[in-house]
Amino acid sequence: MLEETILLPAHLIYPLFLVEGKIKADEIKSLPGIFRLNLDDISKEIEECLKVGVSTFVIFPVVAEKHKDKKATYSYSPKNFYLNAIRVLKKRFPQVILMSDVAMDPYSSDGHDGLVVNGEINNDLTLPILGRMAVAQAEAGIDIIGPSDMMDGRIGFIRNELDKQKFTDVSIMSYTAKYASAYYGPFRDALDSAPKSGDKKTYQMNPANKYEALREAVLDEQEGADMLMVKPALCYLDVIHLLKENSTLPIAAYNVSGEFAMLKAASANGWLNYEQAMPEQLLSIKRAGADIILTYFAKDFGRLFKKLNS
Ligand code: PBG
Repeated sequence: MLEETILLPAHLIYPLFLVEGKIKADEIKSLPGIFRLNLDDISKEIEECLKVGVSTFVIFPVVAEKHKDKKATYSYSPKNFYLNAIRVLKKRFPQVILMSDVAMDPYSSDGHDGLVVNGEINNDLTLPILGRMAVAQAEAGIDIIGPSDMMDGRIGFIRNELDKQKFTDVSIMSYTAKYASAYYGPFRDALDSAPKSGDKKTYQMNPANKYEALREAVLDEQEGADMLMVKPALCYLDVIHLLKENSTLPIAAYNVSGEFAMLKAASANGWLNYEQAMPEQLLSIKRAGADIILTYFAKDFGRLFKKLNS
């Protein structure tokens, strides 16, 4: 009766990695239990998740090197396997909510989220590329557009492009406070998307900064974001709390790949009890103020929740 924080499978978003064609499922070494999946395998994974109450998914494409170029043109190409898979998934599972990732890195030969011009990221020349990518994703049936690129002004730009194309009811979850973090390592292994040179510190945030997150939040609100996200989650619980206290928008937190990998590794060694530590991690993120959590634990949490409540 007095429990203050309630965590349900419905609060979770499960990240999935999609490969082209019929390639067999292959486990990501640094993300034990998480696989690169083809369309049919992803469909099976979604079915299993639905049985345990997880019905929102963020889908990331594993893009072959041959499709990558400087301007990430494949990201909005009619031949893009990811966009075509989204169309199929929306038909197969009309009840699921699908979220995308908007950033150039999976499609960019430079491995950066923005356009590299003379060795630097050009913020303003990146915006039209992100806009085209977002509209292509909305056309394919994505419900929540997830700009993770951290360019300035992209939320307003993308909102405007979506509205012009009559996608007024497609929402935007902004990666509002995304830090330049070492904890994205396993994700970059999964997509082979690490920057070819330099780092992401000119556009992702400095881990030392908290109030800058508030400035980012104000801008994203003004530009039309529907939800604000903090990423990573565990090292940034204070930032989650700060945004929750200062915005009426729903707050999401991304419990990132490195956070998942740490707990998986410790549990595999018998150093931590997975079924106890995993819900504690998620609960702490919720208690800090996250309404929604993107997490690789989603399916396991759903299963555990079902086991404990049946
Ligand atoms: C790409 C993107 C990243 C993640 C989500 N979208 C990596 C990065 O910015 O380099 C990381 C997710 C994770 O680590 O789980 N824009």
